[in-house]
Amino acid sequence: MTTRDKLIDFRERRMKVELGGGEEGIARLRAAGRLTARERMALLFDGGDFEELYLFVSHRCTDLGMAGKEVPGEGVVTGHGLVNGRPVFAFAQDFSVMGGSLGEMHALKIVKCLDKAIAVGCPVVGLNDSGGARIQEGVDALAGYGQIFSRNTLASGVIPQVTAVMGPSAGGAVYSPALMDFIYMVKRDYARMFITGPQVIEATTGEKIGAVELGGAMTHNETSGVAHFVAESDADCIEQIKKLLSYLPSNCRERPPVLSSSDPPDRREEELDGIIPDRSNRPYDMKRVISLLVDNGEYYESQAYYAKNIITCFARLDGKTLGIIANQPRHMAGCLDIDASDKASRFIRFCDCFNIPLLTLVDVPGYLPGTKQEFGGIIRHGAKLLFAYPEATVPKVTVVTRKAYGGAYLGMCSGQTGADQVFAWPTAEIAVMGPSGAANIIFRGLEGEELAAKTEEYERNFANPYQAARRGYIERVIEPNETRPALVRAFRMLEGKTHDQGRPWKKHGNMPV
Ligand code: HXC
Repeated sequence: MTTRDKLIDFRERRMKVELGGGEEGIARLRAAGRLTARERMALLFDGGDFEELYLFVSHRCTDLGMAGKEVPGEGVVTGHGLVNGRPVFAFAQDFSVMGGSLGEMHALKIVKCLDKAIAVGCPVVGLNDSGGARIQEGVDALAGYGQIFSRNTLASGVIPQVTAVMGPSAGGAVYSPALMDFIYMVKRDYARMFITGPQVIEATTGEKIGAVELGGAMTHNETSGVAHFVAESDADCIEQIKKLLSYLPSNCRERPPVLSSSDPPDRREEELDGIIPDRSNRPYDMKRVISLLVDNGEYYESQAYYAKNIITCFARLDGKTLGIIANQPRHMAGCLDIDASDKASRFIRFCDCFNIPLLTLVDVPGYLPGTKQEFGGIIRHGAKLLFAYPEATVPKVTVVTRKAYGGAYLGMCSGQTGADQVFAWPTAEIAVMGPSGAANIIFRGLEGEELAAKTEEYERNFANPYQAARRGYIERVIEPNETRPALVRAFRMLEGKTHDQGRPWKKHGNMPV
């Protein structure tokens, strides 16, 4: 072969692999409204450019008709490029090639991606579209999954790991996403996640359920809490991933990127002065509070459809990324329950891993009462918040807008459970319990006007921020309108906070899970 022939040969080989499952396979994806793996990668990376790695990796299986079978790219595209100008590694499973099923070498390509991302300290993005373990490869496929899971665990807390379910994700294919930090799901019939599919469920339990109902985007965003974000299409999904990455540092040794903000740091918001209703059992929208406080009113909510009684979102203040955890009085009066504790504690730990300061907005009447919660283990799950906040070493500022009662006061980052600064609005009520609950216990036997008078006395003396202020449990009582400037100054002051804080040496803590 001449040099020219070798070059032509190389080009032909490359083109063959790049065609994945061929014209027919690609046409089938298009008919369903799906993008190909390479189109997804091109959308992810700036200018559509990425360096594809391990193009010619191929399987060595000879069983069940696999001898000599060509599997272009092993059913997965891997590479790196720039996202928002910063390096990112990514892999996209190619459903047009053996259903994106995962064999030994498919797994190896993903493992190499993860290893390189850990080594250079940049995020990894996984675009999943796979029929799970490649049946023909038997235990080699399982071993491949095992290696990916181990790398995901190793990478956890070192680099952000973001994943999207953009096709079937069955069996082993669900657990790499589950071990990563954030899961996106495309709200289309082809995207679903489950351990065992409808047929197996019917055969073993008799339950009849459709695939989308069982494992579609809304099931996992609304009901199971497995997914964090929902996207309308493949393109929307990738656009959202890029938005998420814009809030995050590349690795745990970096701080998040700082954008120049056109929103004045000293902006006061008179609307906040009137946002708390006169009657303390009336709801209001905590999302409105968030939008009035943060830069340009923009925030990006994680798990927006799950445990709506607590809000978790990323935003910017003074141009810097902030993780916000806030009770939502509009749902279940903002009570803490099992799901809310799960949702918020995982978010707190993510932010802490990646040096994202935490703002906590508190309006919580308590932990949700009831046998469902007690039998479900609210003690264990609720303890996650009590663990996650003190464990977090990032700057933490808490604003009590209204209720901060009982254990939930401590669960929402009080001064004793980790806050560096606690601000309270004059409408704050910081006490062991609400006036009527307290009156029923300590004034038992009293009725009518006498009980009303005692309840009012309790309300006057305890349902306010001043007892906490007198003890020094809160740093400042502030007017709602001055909250944004106060937060900007507090987070600026806390930028120099050191991370070790005299903590005892340990391998890692043992969070109640
Ligand atoms: C080998 C597979 C495959 C697999 C799909 N294909 N899944 N090949 N191993 N796991 C192939 C099909 O044979 C077909 O090849 C092509 O991919 C497209 O699949 P279709 O069935 O035609 O597509 P569709 O109708 O869209 O259905 C997609 C699907 C279905 C729902 C994903 O293929 C399916 O149910 N696959 C099996 C899912 C599964 O049970 N996986 C194993 C899970 S166990 P041709 O040549 O016809 O185009 C597991 C254990 C790991 O993962 C545990 C680790 C913890």
